[in-house]
Amino acid sequence: EQEKQAYIASIKVLLKEKDAVLIAHYYTDPEIQALAEETGGFVGDSLEMARFGNQHPAKTLIIGGVRFMGESAKILTPEKTVLMPTLEAECSLDLGCPVDKFTAFCDAHPDHTVVVYANTSAAVKARADWVVTSSIALEIVEHLDSEDKQIIWGPDRHLGSYIEKQTGAEMLLWQGECVVHDEFSAKALKDMKSVYPDAAILVHPESPASVVQVADAVGSTSQLIKAAKELPNKTLIVATDKGIFYKMQQMVPDKELIEAPTAGAGATCRSCAHCPWMAMNGLEAIESALKDGGQGHEIHVDEAIREKSLIPLNRMLDFAA
Ligand code: 13P
Ligand code: SF4
Repeated sequence: EQEKQAYIASIKVLLKEKDAVLIAHYYTDPEIQALAEETGGFVGDSLEMARFGNQHPAKTLIIGGVRFMGESAKILTPEKTVLMPTLEAECSLDLGCPVDKFTAFCDAHPDHTVVVYANTSAAVKARADWVVTSSIALEIVEHLDSEDKQIIWGPDRHLGSYIEKQTGAEMLLWQGECVVHDEFSAKALKDMKSVYPDAAILVHPESPASVVQVADAVGSTSQLIKAAKELPNKTLIVATDKGIFYKMQQMVPDKELIEAPTAGAGATCRSCAHCPWMAMNGLEAIESALKDGGQGHEIHVDEAIREKSLIPLNRMLDFAA
């Protein structure tokens, strides 16, 4: 605890010294989210993080999250220094969608509009017509479908099929998945629900269709937090990364939040779902990113790729505005 406090004190000084602001995702550990809030930074979903960094005047952005979030910040604000606690914080969706293979997939269907999830590399975004996050994906696909566009969707197959079902659009789906959400099990959830019959089930749409099917609310991280407030239920079973519990519990202090079980877990699962890459965002790593002048922590995006990827990213931000 003493060591933690020393890191926090040192990070606070460094943030001021470097004119830096900490922007964290809901899936980072509670102490990182608390630090972002305490220091005038921000905690939010992927879309809100991109917006906040884009508008904030600080010279340096430090992104508590995974690499695609740092890259999005750099694409939007190339004049800023963008740091990550570690450049090794990946995402299985990004890793499962290499640019050469994805480009070949798109090239094979040249008449299609290419929509990619924000959880992709800058190079994949550069090949896309639209970038979306889970907060805005439904609306954007609905819009494209109303214009009779044929759509390629990548990389999350679960989110893709959920959107197909909701909008009636038929899309060519890349077959990627999130290692965290893919593990939720409908069977284990139903077993848990029998223990808590009055509970509502909240599900992130990166989860398999069978899990989404038993949900009372489906949405991005920020939408799930909103649903937690709005649903009348006093008990909520939540199928997304456990990092979200910090903010969600703050919003609904009187409700009982229960982690949804992953496959193989019993009816009383605890701490099952946590992204291994989000977990890399520790206090020590943040201090070292700020201290070392960015050595080994700074996000760089090739300028030609940046210019191309900015177009679909801005299209999303303009649509969301
Ligand atoms: P959102 O915060 O946009 O719902 O993103 C979820 C996610 O998996 C980020 O890694
Ligand atoms: Fe990627 Fe899933 Fe981790 Fe989010 S939780 S960063 S989608 S692997």
